[in-house]
Amino acid sequence: MAVIRLARPGDGPAVEALAKVALGADAATPVGPGAFAAAIDRHGGRLSLPHGTGCALVAEAAESTPIGLTYTCAPVRLIEHYAELGRHGQRRLAGVLTELELLTVAEHARGAGVGTALLAAMEARLRSGGCRLVLAKVGAGDRLVLRWYRRRGYLPAVPGEPVTIDVDGAMIAFDDGGDGYRLAVKSLDPTQQVHRGSTRTGTYLAVTPARPSATPPWSVLPRGRPRR
Ligand SMILES: CC(C)(COP(=O)(O)OP(=O)(O)OC[C@H]1O[C@@H](n2cnc3c(N)ncnc32)[C@H](O)[C@@H]1OP(=O)(O)O)[C@@H](O)C(=O)NCCC(=O)NCCS
Repeated sequence: MAVIRLARPGDGPAVEALAKVALGADAATPVGPGAFAAAIDRHGGRLSLPHGTGCALVAEAAESTPIGLTYTCAPVRLIEHYAELGRHGQRRLAGVLTELELLTVAEHARGAGVGTALLAAMEARLRSGGCRLVLAKVGAGDRLVLRWYRRRGYLPAVPGEPVTIDVDGAMIAFDDGGDGYRLAVKSLDPTQQVHRGSTRTGTYLAVTPARPSATPPWSVLPRGRPRR
């Protein structure tokens, strides 16, 4: 069985190759040919980013080559959108929300539990750091991967559907941004849940400690919801 560990210097090329399998570049992911590899080889699996630390975990097979990767970081664009929260509020937001940027297993190693083990290790790590909600980005047409997440406790948002969470009294709302990905979200706080609510104009996902509220959570927002 694969061992899950933090990426370390020397893993760079394998990590970058796995990242390329997962998806193209995104704002919070180190970009450019070799940039991810160079960052891992220099700093290991903890990368200093705006609003927090990116974290790369790898699954290591017997020959010690990474065969799977998960990479998480704070949702930078969302946090920057909420500048009105101030530095303290933005730090809180970065602490409770995490984006699962990459999750991939080398093709030859799929179907053996490696992806499930990577996801569980990543969630345990985030939970112990105080994260309350993890957001995975899944290709909009990738039904098998959406099902894979659903079976692991994630609730996929429908395209354009808002997701809301109360962070210290501030109602944070976001959606997939219409960039070809769907969000699949999971509460890491056992006292909270993600549920789907509806209004006359559509549905939404909300993270709440108790039963769904009759009032749409974003109705208390002073302005429109941001894209992530
Ligand atoms: C999604 C992914 C990470 C799953 O990793 P994995 O190690 O194959 O998953 P596991 O072995 O832990 O899970 C087994 C599941 O995959 C299914 N499976 C079995 N063989 C498989 C295979 N050869 N390829 C893909 N999935 C397979 C099983 O039916 C099982 O599903 P279930 O438990 O929900 O019924 C992997 O398929 C992958 O890297 N896909 C490409 C990248 C991607 O889409 N990443 C997610 C978006 S960020």
